[in-house]
Amino acid sequence: MRSIAVLACGGGSNLQALLDASASGTLGATVTVVVADRPCGALERAEAAGARAVLLPMAAAVRRDPDARRAYDECLADVLAVFAPDLVVLAGWMLLLSPEFLARFPGRVINVHPALLPDDGGDVVATSRGAIPALRGGHAVPDALRAGLPVTGATVHVVTDDLDAGPVLLRDEVPILPDDDEATLHARIKAVEHRLLPRAVASLLGASAERRGALARG
Ligand code: GRF
Repeated sequence: MRSIAVLACGGGSNLQALLDASASGTLGATVTVVVADRPCGALERAEAAGARAVLLPMAAAVRRDPDARRAYDECLADVLAVFAPDLVVLAGWMLLLSPEFLARFPGRVINVHPALLPDDGGDVVATSRGAIPALRGGHAVPDALRAGLPVTGATVHVVTDDLDAGPVLLRDEVPILPDDDEATLHARIKAVEHRLLPRAVASLLGASAERRGALARG
């Protein structure tokens, strides 16, 4: 059975979608370890499902010190390596990962992002409602509302050194409704994420070595 590691620091609804897909046999993999940088719902969900739940807290001082950040990432990679994951899934992980971390798992780190991202790593995404800006970073849901966009969505992509710009695996649109607020919009985006993420994991695990090599090259 393939093994996946999940990094999460939120409520863990995307982790739950992976755990459910694993339990029903559609994922083709087991979530062996979940790591969080703070106590969170994701760790509780991991424990409830019998996955190893690891809390690797990051002190505020570490966050501000580039050398300490690199050391944290090295420690994080060492923890994950114990479980020999076929894939590392960022499911609500809000910290940037260093190039050194990504080099430990080439082409095998994927992220779910609450907005539409383009195939070409550029700044514009084509949608059924016309071209819209690619919303990157940690505020993509409020940014979509603030920009008055007609549509946003969810994207699963390979993580590279460039923020939210790696090869897209799956993406789907979510219309923005006139009375949406951040909570209602994010809830509908998450429903799409829960469908896309297990499919992306299953398809990547089943992909040829050649395709995985192409993704690793970015
Ligand atoms: C998701 O919307 C994901 O796209 C973003 O963080 C959120 C995590 O939600 N990166 P959950 O913890 O999986 O419920």
